[in-house]
Amino acid sequence: MESDQDFLIPPDLVQALDRSTHTVVMTGSGTSAESGIPTFRDAQTGLWANYRPEDLATPEAFERDPKLVWDWYVWRRELVGAAEPNPGHVAIAELNGLLRRLTLITQNVDGLHQRAGSAGVIEFHGNLMRNRCTAGHPVDETGDSDKTPPLCHECGAMVRPDVVWFGEAIPTAALETALEAVTDCDILFAIGTSAVVQPAAGLAMQAKQHGALLVEINPEPTPLTNDVDFVLTGPSGRIMPELVNALRSR
Ligand code: OAD
Repeated sequence: MESDQDFLIPPDLVQALDRSTHTVVMTGSGTSAESGIPTFRDAQTGLWANYRPEDLATPEAFERDPKLVWDWYVWRRELVGAAEPNPGHVAIAELNGLLRRLTLITQNVDGLHQRAGSAGVIEFHGNLMRNRCTAGHPVDETGDSDKTPPLCHECGAMVRPDVVWFGEAIPTAALETALEAVTDCDILFAIGTSAVVQPAAGLAMQAKQHGALLVEINPEPTPLTNDVDFVLTGPSGRIMPELVNALRSR
């Protein structure tokens, strides 16, 4: 049983947040771990520990075996559909009302930030709960198609999840909005990300180069840790509610 002693939030971080005119929160799959959704690189439970990304999360993999890739995403969608936002997602949504300006950038595709109440979420890697066809037409429902994967009603192309695969570009609007935010913010939180995948990993350093304070929330160190101003070591589902409490009682 984890000790329930409060996690101490550094007072100078609370003061910095009090002064902040624009805070960015960038999240990775670690923020959804406490909702029971596997991360990617955790040794035991990580998706990439049990599957090879190149076999499942690339356009070539989809070309090579569309049914395998489609079925894998159907499995992940069911996992996500059965999951609930955890206290970390809820606290991030509550941050919005406690700071002058907050921009949330997520690498996650599970939509849990939105279900926890966050709005204007920049979905850096798309959203698993949305489909599109390989020609780019949005596909609302996979409908009566008996094919796996289904085919686009508009053009007959194969339907695929609306996520960014390895080797694919970040959606232009998401990239531009994220870059604007990280070059303008005065504090950037990197929460639950191993900070190894570009360009998301580079966003934190871009913020730092523009004078922002960096805060990392993660049970483990990452390649970012040495460059971070505040390291809060632990699960986001525990630390984020403490941060919100500290802001509320300032
Ligand atoms: P990773 O699996 O690479 O990293 C998850 C991070 O979350 C690790 O640093 C863990 O230590 C940390 N973590 C685990 N449990 C946590 C918790 N309860 N609270 C806070 N942190 C926790 O996942 P990402 O960094 O999100 O992209 O991976 C980035 C991208 O690589 C993903 O968006 C995906 C993946 O391939 C694509 O598929 C394009």
